[in-house]
Amino acid sequence: MAKLDEKIGFIGGGNMAYAIGAGLISRGIVKAIQVLVSGPHIENLQRWRDHGVTEVSEDNYVVLEKSDIIFIAVKPHILEPCAAQLRNNHISSARDKDKLFVSVLAGVNLKSLEESFSFIQGLKMIRTMPNTSMQVGEGCTVYTPGSYVKQQDLEKVHLMLNSLGVAQQVPETMIDGISGLSGCGPAFVYTIIEALADGAVKQGVPRQMALQFASQMLLGAVKTVIITGKHPAVLRDEVCSPGGATICGVYELEKGNLRSTLMTAVEKASQRAAELGKK
Ligand SMILES: NC(=O)c1ccc[n+]([C@@H]2O[C@H](COP(=O)([O-])OP(=O)(O)OC[C@H]3O[C@@H](n4cnc5c(N)ncnc54)[C@H](OP(=O)(O)O)[C@@H]3O)[C@@H](O)[C@H]2O)c1
Repeated sequence: MAKLDEKIGFIGGGNMAYAIGAGLISRGIVKAIQVLVSGPHIENLQRWRDHGVTEVSEDNYVVLEKSDIIFIAVKPHILEPCAAQLRNNHISSARDKDKLFVSVLAGVNLKSLEESFSFIQGLKMIRTMPNTSMQVGEGCTVYTPGSYVKQQDLEKVHLMLNSLGVAQQVPETMIDGISGLSGCGPAFVYTIIEALADGAVKQGVPRQMALQFASQMLLGAVKTVIITGKHPAVLRDEVCSPGGATICGVYELEKGNLRSTLMTAVEKASQRAAELGKK
């Protein structure tokens, strides 16, 4: 797999940043010495050190100064104070236009991102929506580049994000809708796994085994959808023999409005993501 020589910085070293940073190091896309991270509480960045990252700082400006590609990975409401602090410290230089910024913030559109970082001349900003499954190399990320981003920048970012799962460029109007699906979706699926396992535990199956089988079953079903390319409804019909056990279970799912509940969960989460990005 191709490697990058650039220094990769993370402003905010929480769960999403760590999924990307640790993932990139584990996959060999970058070495730990190429990675920098900052956050307000150095003690919360220990896992980065454990992963071999030595440039760990409480000063976001260090990351801004020393990195070529900078992930902005703070919560949406922290964007403004964080950008203000960087703006106050910043001394413009010719190197500014070479830096590439990548936002992972839910709901914050390119216009707002570009306004917040307008102190960088010729700002190259890419808005993304990743997910935490990147930590195991099975993430999904969509991204939209701002106007100053060049093709070679996009290729680098695509290489990084796609090495941790699947990455795709989309029009910005699609990002909030995807946020509620793949950005938030892992939490929906963890809930489903737990509930499925509980169904077996209720009948006397040991919890650990129930969780293992619920997860493995899900993995098998997901791989079947991806590898066969068949529509899930076709695959479901193949499992449901007439008068059999599975169709009885499916009937209960229908009575419990599982499908409309999941559709609404995605929609509500997307709406909330869009709301979070509003100033
Ligand atoms: N988690 C997901 O599944 C997911 C998916 C897609 C997108 N996102 C996006 O990713 C971003 C981060 O979310 P997260 O889940 O990773 O949250 P998180 O785990 O709470 O991480 C946020 C990080 O920002 C740090 N921080 C707070 N104030 C800061 C400042 N002024 N400067 C620099 N760092 C600061 C926090 O440090 P301390 O802990 O030391 O305060 C924390 O490490 C959000 O914008 C979210 O919308 C998250």
